[in-house]
Amino acid sequence: MKRIGTTVAAALSMAALTMAAGARAGPASVAPTPPMGWNSWNHFAAKIDDATVRAQADAMVASGMRDAGYRYINIDDTWEGARDAAGVIHPNAKFPDMKALADYVHSKGLKLGIYSSPGPKTCAGYEGSMGHEAQDAKTYAEWGIDYLKYDLCSLGPSMIASGSLEKAQAIELEAYKKMDAALRATGRPIVYSLCQYGVAQVWRWGGSVGGNLWRTTGDITDRFSRMATIGFGQAGLSKFAKPGRWNDPDMLEVGNGGMNAVEYRTHMSLWALLAAPLLAGNDLTKMTPETLAILTNREVIAIDQDPAGRQGDRVTAEGPLEVWAKPLSGGAKAVGLFNLSDQPSYVEVDFAQVGLKGPVKTRDIWGAKDLGRLKAYRALVPAHGVMLLRLGG
Ligand code: GLA
Repeated sequence: MKRIGTTVAAALSMAALTMAAGARAGPASVAPTPPMGWNSWNHFAAKIDDATVRAQADAMVASGMRDAGYRYINIDDTWEGARDAAGVIHPNAKFPDMKALADYVHSKGLKLGIYSSPGPKTCAGYEGSMGHEAQDAKTYAEWGIDYLKYDLCSLGPSMIASGSLEKAQAIELEAYKKMDAALRATGRPIVYSLCQYGVAQVWRWGGSVGGNLWRTTGDITDRFSRMATIGFGQAGLSKFAKPGRWNDPDMLEVGNGGMNAVEYRTHMSLWALLAAPLLAGNDLTKMTPETLAILTNREVIAIDQDPAGRQGDRVTAEGPLEVWAKPLSGGAKAVGLFNLSDQPSYVEVDFAQVGLKGPVKTRDIWGAKDLGRLKAYRALVPAHGVMLLRLGG
């Protein structure tokens, strides 16, 4: 997969140019800002069922996360049951009534997401949508589904089996376009989330096959090193994101226990600077006040959800010290001073480096403190930590 993925990139992007006509109409209408919500995979994996999903929806409301902007409750892999004689997909025993579950989630002012694969099987070996795309999209719409994560999984081997890079890429693009058309045909607004681990420069063509977001990487884990590899590896991708078309560096791990609070603030800050989807991946029914505070910091969320829809990018890297900036509406900037080393370290930025001339209003976001009107800033940043600033505006 990797070999095919990297070598077909050029041809894929050429193919993308010819496919604009097949794109979904009005992508910004379903995802004008990066989708926010929760997804079952990072914490529950296969141990997800109807009762757990309802409990997460309840907790999203009770915790204040809904009021902070979180909306989607996304069921990942392992909900799928068998197809009946007519080919209609049914949930397995863990999900006795998907429409009733969607009604419940909607009654809370939330939206429900689901998961499938363009291949015959999902990554966890459950029923995929191959050959049943229109039927599945119709079923999802009838249930009241608002979001589909469509995960390459078992389409990979058939791409390889096609025997040529050109055929492999055609298979992938065709498969993603097919589900896009099927979703559009339902008439229901459904966010379309591509998951193919970021191979073949998906950021260049994900929008042309209808994707509202596309994973740019392999799977995240709840470890600082993996989160940092993925997050800081997004450098250079900002120009491919815009309202309705987002790069997706995978779901959040905040609150899952494998990182400390400093590291989770780095994770959250970086995802906000990246205009990444904010899909919490923890158990919302068992959050510490610290986890909740990280996930619901209004000023951090405002950076992610800024209406201009511009993704941030790396400004400087000096060994393990990195400065990232995201343009915000009204000419303001969000700036992250990151220390990836294992020691506390000073990190500095001259605001001219992010395009700001003269002194500007400077705010320490996590400290919730105005720092005055400044032209530069130098912060002592803890190991694996961040100083997140808002400049101007
Ligand atoms: C892949 C995806 C994950 C998750 C699992 C489910 O690994 O990248 O995000 O959806 O499949 O099987």
